[in-house]
Amino acid sequence: MSGPAIETRGLGRVLPGEVPVTLVQDIDLTVAAGEFVAVTGPSGSGKSSLLYLLGLLDLPTAGSVRIEGADTAGLSPDQLAAIRLSRIGFVFQFHFLLPEFTCMANVEIPIRRLGRLSAAQARERAALLLDSLELADHRRKYPDQLSGGQRQRVAIARALANDPPLLLADEPTGNLDTRTAHLVFELFGTLARQQGRSVVVVTHDNDLAAMADRRIHLVDGRIVAD
Ligand SMILES: Nc1ncnc2c1ncn2[C@@H]1O[C@H](COP(=O)(O)OP(=O)(O)OP(=O)(O)O)[C@@H](O)[C@H]1O
Ligand SMILES: [Mg+2]
Repeated sequence: MSGPAIETRGLGRVLPGEVPVTLVQDIDLTVAAGEFVAVTGPSGSGKSSLLYLLGLLDLPTAGSVRIEGADTAGLSPDQLAAIRLSRIGFVFQFHFLLPEFTCMANVEIPIRRLGRLSAAQARERAALLLDSLELADHRRKYPDQLSGGQRQRVAIARALANDPPLLLADEPTGNLDTRTAHLVFELFGTLARQQGRSVVVVTHDNDLAAMADRRIHLVDGRIVAD
């Protein structure tokens, strides 16, 4: 299956209730391979909601999400989980690393879950990823023994564990100092421009958003500028 990394048409999500809440609406968005897109907008404008829909962590109430050309409507939770595991990497504002596992193990776990590599190959890939993010000296450390920037880089290594063509990040630099945040965004640029991945990053920081190739601005759940 091939096609743009992401393609949405009329995508919307309304929370039902006595007073229904519209999280996002009328989202027509195509993200090609190798594109680095920043998503900006005021607090409550629907940035996280959009990212969860794009990442198949939440289901739309209107419209469609295609991942690499394949419509995701009607897929079972297991099928959605399989796409997430193999095709989509996530980075969140809080790293969500497993505290009881070393950095190596945190990166190895999704590789082992996918089950395409042997244990030895999984270890080798995790080590290579950590090395490429300049974490070679920290492989055996636990997350709480690292700085915020180091932890976020481990989280990025974990997101890349299964070599996903699509990387989604929700305010990944919210807890980092300016310099480290800049480095993380430079890394996203490299992942897109040199490795051909599609990278969609939510940020409220205009200087960081300017480092992306493209910027999408949300207001009240709609794209108002692209
Ligand atoms: N479970 C929920 N129940 C009710 N309202 C919700 C729920 N989740 C989100 N919302 C509302 O939906 C809107 C969009 O929220 P969302 O978290 O996507 O915004 P955001 O742009 O990511 O904001 P922020 O910059 O603060 O992270 C907000 O008005 C929020 O209050
Ligand atoms: Mg948010």
